[in-house]
Amino acid sequence: MAGLLSILVLSAVLALGLSLLLFQFITGVPPHPSGAAEASDVVALLREATLPADAIIYDLGCGWGSLIIAVARAFPSAQIRGIEISPLPYWVARFRTRQLSRVTVTRGDFYCCDLTDADAATCYLMIKPMPKVASLFDTQLQPGTPVVALTFWFRDRKPAATRGRRGLGRDAALYYWNSGKADR
Ligand SMILES: C[S@@+](CC[C@H](N)C(=O)[O-])C[C@H]1O[C@@H](n2cnc3c(N)ncnc32)[C@H](O)[C@@H]1O
Repeated sequence: MAGLLSILVLSAVLALGLSLLLFQFITGVPPHPSGAAEASDVVALLREATLPADAIIYDLGCGWGSLIIAVARAFPSAQIRGIEISPLPYWVARFRTRQLSRVTVTRGDFYCCDLTDADAATCYLMIKPMPKVASLFDTQLQPGTPVVALTFWFRDRKPAATRGRRGLGRDAALYYWNSGKADR
């Protein structure tokens, strides 16, 4: 009996580990969480954007929930919506936010989500998906919507403000979508 239980536990751990690798391979983005300092930079930039008290704030790829928890604490009347495709981080984010009634965590691909009601959006992804994320924002966000990108910026857009420890590669940038778009 104990042997069977060990095999089941080991299989579950292996399946979860493999699912992390699989979704990292599919998206090209690891589930690396924001640290406290990075999250506070994102919060500071969102504050600078002067959001409505009941703002709807999306985190594209909310991972284990670190950033949505920090944002929920900083904006006590806002609705925070995290979207995560990878099952293990998704369930952990759900668990971590279970007592935060204003936080919703949805499992899915953010490219397929409706973001048209966003008052602000955040993302901490990788270099490769940023052009596709920019196109998503072009079609979904209202003009002037604040967007905070952590570490990986939108190359053809000019940030309105930045925060971070220069040289450490963890800077956050605030954009008012899509006012900083460079002419091509
Ligand atoms: C670097 S983590 C950031 C987590 C969180 N935003 C934070 O700052 O703590 C990026 C997350 O985005 C998720 N992701 C990448 N592409 C995605 C997509 N198309 N739809 C949903 N989630 C995605 C990954 O699975 C990963 O967990």
